[in-house]
Amino acid sequence: MTPPPAPTMAAESNANHGGRHRHVLLFPLPYQGHINPMFRLAGVLHARGFAVTVFHTHFNAPDPARHPHYRFVPVPDVVSGPDPVAIEDVVAHIVSIGGACEAAFRDLLAAVLEEYSRDAVACLVADAHLLPIFQAANCLGVPTLALRTSSAVSFACFTAYPMLCEKGYLPVQDSQLDTPVVELPPYRVRDLMDIGKDGHEVLCEMMARAVAAVKGSSGLILNTFDALERRELEGLRQDLAVPVFDIGPLHKFSPAGESSLLRQDRSCLEWLDAWPPASVLYVSFGSLACMSPRDLEETAWGIAGSCVPFLWVVRPGMVRGSAHQELPKGFEAATRGRGMVVGWAPQEELLRHRAVGGFWTHNGWNSTTESVCEGVPMLCRPYFGDQMGNARYVEHVWRVGLELVGELEMGRVEAAIRRLMTGRDGAEMRSRAGQLKKAAEECTGKGGTSCLAIDKLVTHMMSL
Ligand code: UDX
Repeated sequence: MTPPPAPTMAAESNANHGGRHRHVLLFPLPYQGHINPMFRLAGVLHARGFAVTVFHTHFNAPDPARHPHYRFVPVPDVVSGPDPVAIEDVVAHIVSIGGACEAAFRDLLAAVLEEYSRDAVACLVADAHLLPIFQAANCLGVPTLALRTSSAVSFACFTAYPMLCEKGYLPVQDSQLDTPVVELPPYRVRDLMDIGKDGHEVLCEMMARAVAAVKGSSGLILNTFDALERRELEGLRQDLAVPVFDIGPLHKFSPAGESSLLRQDRSCLEWLDAWPPASVLYVSFGSLACMSPRDLEETAWGIAGSCVPFLWVVRPGMVRGSAHQELPKGFEAATRGRGMVVGWAPQEELLRHRAVGGFWTHNGWNSTTESVCEGVPMLCRPYFGDQMGNARYVEHVWRVGLELVGELEMGRVEAAIRRLMTGRDGAEMRSRAGQLKKAAEECTGKGGTSCLAIDKLVTHMMSL
């Protein structure tokens, strides 16, 4: 292990109380949608004076060269086999990964504590999915905070999961998809996390472990903000005996480009410069969602038929069962001059670009908040996990998007894109998204709720 770099000047003001509590230790879950918020949090805490030490797995390891101010501690794990792709495999991997690292983590943590001295370490912030890591830290007397990278309401679902199973909502039955979940309005059964009967047990285990990690920690950090989820945050605060810090949207405080696992193709920003305001549809399904070759085809021809300018991220591995992400023959010719396809994009910057007028998204929580904060309305096509619930809120609570439901079929894709980009209700969604953008700016501005929550978090960390 290399010695940690000294904290910056700004650092000294907050976290260097005579050398006490100046280190924060972080352990992200190694998936893009979890790595980004953890690194954004690292940026926030580093700016407040903490020296940052990141423990990480070999799987999806960050690149230390891109974060010269942080120290990195690789933690070997005992999981082997191919990288998980199918969602059932990802869930099983998430459940096993903390345990697979636990023994090595404990030794490495003990070495770090000896080196820094116990008093110099404020706490460990770990992803809520890493229960064994929390337990190992607690055994060594290190206080822990849990980061949940999704919405407040999605964590409320985690805590409600046993009740939802007891009441028969879960596992989901096809005949019940549109049944309202009266305990969690405005959710319907189709919005609940579910990976089928075979995966039900492991999913229950994943949720129960995350809830146990949060309840056994000294606080819950959420990448959400008051104006977006006030009611949901109040509910969580009533249910949980630990403090809840709603310090999001974290990317407004600290960008995450440096924690991208794939190389971002920046040429698309220049390409966007040529287009009028709010004219381009941005299409991306995040880092994990996969589609069938048939769905790729319908998506492509729907985009082509809409006649709307577009920027489409076709990620390596995005099409199931195909090593090459080949777009249908004739697509390039049909869209020449009004479209660009890239393997991975600088999404945060792109959503900020004035030319982007809509986002066709899978509604991962990061993508959803990044879009909301730039005033970009969404065409929602959720795939799994919290994405369906996020889409429900986008369409029915914040009313800044519409969901593309049912089979993907080019004619319906075409119509939905036109409705979002050029229709009257699309314009209304854009206007409401603009109001949410303002609300996010207020929350993250001086004296805003998220800023105050960061102050409280830092004070809390120093008091542990
Ligand atoms: C996963 C789950 O799918 C999601 O439901 C959960 O909320 C978080 O974990 P993921 O599929 O990775 O998330 O989506 P999302 O949460 O949207 O995160 C993707 C991140 O990658 C975003 O921060 C986005 O800015 C970034 N990204 C995406 C890029 O940098 N470039 C791209 O081309 C696409």
